[in-house]
Amino acid sequence: MKYDFDEIIVRKGTDCVKYDDLQGVFGRTDLLPMWVADMDFRTPKFVVDAIRQRLDHEVLGYTLPCESWYENIIQWVGRRHNMQVKKEEIGFVPGIVRGIAFAVNCFTQPSDKVMVQTPVYHPFFLVTEHNHREVVYNSLEVHDGQVHINFDSFEQKIQGCKLFILCNPHNPGGRVWTLEELQRIAEICERNGTKVISDEIHADLTLPGYEHHSYSTVSEAAREHSITFMAPSKAFNMPGLSSSYSLIFNRDMREKFYAYMEASELSMGNMFAYLSCAAAYEHGEDWLKQMLAYVQGNIDYTEQYLQANIPSISMLKPQASYLVFLDCRKLNLTQEKLVDLFVEKAHLALNDGTMFGHEGKGFMRLNVGCPRSILHRALTLLAQAVG
Ligand SMILES: Cc1ncc(COP(=O)(O)O)c(C=O)c1O
Repeated sequence: MKYDFDEIIVRKGTDCVKYDDLQGVFGRTDLLPMWVADMDFRTPKFVVDAIRQRLDHEVLGYTLPCESWYENIIQWVGRRHNMQVKKEEIGFVPGIVRGIAFAVNCFTQPSDKVMVQTPVYHPFFLVTEHNHREVVYNSLEVHDGQVHINFDSFEQKIQGCKLFILCNPHNPGGRVWTLEELQRIAEICERNGTKVISDEIHADLTLPGYEHHSYSTVSEAAREHSITFMAPSKAFNMPGLSSSYSLIFNRDMREKFYAYMEASELSMGNMFAYLSCAAAYEHGEDWLKQMLAYVQGNIDYTEQYLQANIPSISMLKPQASYLVFLDCRKLNLTQEKLVDLFVEKAHLALNDGTMFGHEGKGFMRLNVGCPRSILHRALTLLAQAVG
């Protein structure tokens, strides 16, 4: 079966953040939204059908996690990420950012140090800060068109940190960390007694030619000192369903986290989260493959368009996901003027690179998880604005 990713679906007026919060965030509504990290593609039919079928029963009572939720997670992460997972190692979390917040609260005390590598998905440091932990920032370096870890500085900064929050693959840099990089992180964290939260929400969006390594699989130490968060939400375009889960292999860490979650009934999911995740993993292989090929096409299209028409803007070419970090430093604009160029002149809504940390200065994040005609329109508007 061939899926249609060119289809334009009107999302405006559905209370979706991407289209319906433009006024609140950008101060105007006449912008083409290329920001929030969800896609403009139809959520796959097998996910929607599973929800519809359950609705037909018409009694929406309290629900257990269905057996097929466990089974499909075990099969999926085994097949795709080479992970051997037992049922008791899987726990429901109502969203990955919330999961990170719970883990920060569970495994650290107020004022404890928690390290992140910026530029990074901003809730990593916001959640940590808002929960009164001290954020330690290790800057990623940009060279050869990619973000890289400076391991000397990593070694130094990690000292005294109780936790390190890893974005694996990385948002907004789009990097799929190599096995060697992850093993090095694991060795350093183990030596320093630092636990690791590995956010792997983008794992299933790893693009052709790259291989995702789940952090827990890179060494015995990594498996024992980490908590992994995964979800079908990004890959199958269903983040509104809060259908995430934790994988914890170390018994002490698991018992501590589950006790924390159960104390406030945080681990109680809703029926749609369970069954939609099971459906995505059971039926999703082919859809995902085609969707990723389309996204890869959009990434290549963006790269070629920039080279041909806007040579002053380049990009960090994603190895995973549909988020493209545009390098606009050659324009030589202050960040305020850069944002002004995108919003006021090009009429585009992108994420300001500095929201991911000061290292994002001179960058803007473009979401290419959309029909190519929309992407073409966005790039045309940008080319006209840059002149
Ligand atoms: C790295 C990363 N983690 C978590 C999230 C959000 O996850 P959730 O909606 O499950 O909290 C995003 C969304 O863009 C993300 O990029």
